[in-house]
Amino acid sequence: MNKKIRIGALVSGGGTNLQAIIDSCESGKIDGKIIFVGSDNPGAFGLKRAKKHGISTFFVNYTSIIQNFKKEPEKIILPEDFDMNDLLSKQHFFSADMPHEKIKSFIITRAAAEARLLGKMKPYQFDLLILAGFMRNLSPYFIDRVNTVPGDLRIMNIHPALLPAFPGTDGYGDTFRYGCKVGGCTVHFIDYGEDSGPIIGQKTFRIQENDTLDTIKKKGLKIEWELYPECIQLFAHSRLETVKISHTLKNGKILQRTVVKIAQPQSAH
Ligand code: GAR
Repeated sequence: MNKKIRIGALVSGGGTNLQAIIDSCESGKIDGKIIFVGSDNPGAFGLKRAKKHGISTFFVNYTSIIQNFKKEPEKIILPEDFDMNDLLSKQHFFSADMPHEKIKSFIITRAAAEARLLGKMKPYQFDLLILAGFMRNLSPYFIDRVNTVPGDLRIMNIHPALLPAFPGTDGYGDTFRYGCKVGGCTVHFIDYGEDSGPIIGQKTFRIQENDTLDTIKKKGLKIEWELYPECIQLFAHSRLETVKISHTLKNGKILQRTVVKIAQPQSAH
């Protein structure tokens, strides 16, 4: 029998994915247990769902940290191990033409909030951290303090589009407005970019002429609730391996990327 993995979760909103994962843990579809749910939104319905299942919850006030920094930047409390140059060299969120001060403010405010988040997570030993509709980008400050073993990625996210198409905050809206004929969702590991990490799984649905943004969201969420538990179960069974691949393109350039390989299940004897 597989050992149960310990899962931490971060949510910002309704938490229907969280609910699907809690239910899958309880029914045995996932060999795992959710041990905490954190949020940047004290009113997130996901926190209520967690409490109903006896799961510990916490809240980190990102909004006040960001607003206070705008008013009194000198008063921000940064973690002792904060290293701006290291974080600037790693982040992939912003292109080079973005004003430097804007990138720096982002890194400072996120690291301040993430230090609090890490503080709240500290009492819990977890194997996997899942983002289930957590609407804050995680900076390299946070990612490096969770992914402490090189090559061992352990932050997962679900995104409402078929990545690498439509990263960002409105995956289904972008899919709809573009006139796509299929939509989908993607589960991936987090890296230093925006929705750019190694892809673990994807599911699709057809978009018909009479579909609206609302019906697309409904179709999408339905397959999210299947895909996320499936991907977490692959992690629980140690079937996800990240490998670095490189391809030589026609123009001679070398493309390098970290991808996920899914191992065959161990046969039961
Ligand atoms: C889901 O559609 C999820 O894919 C999306 O937020 C929704 C959360 O719903 N996540 C993102 O857009 C992350 N960038 P839920 O709170 O009901 O699970």
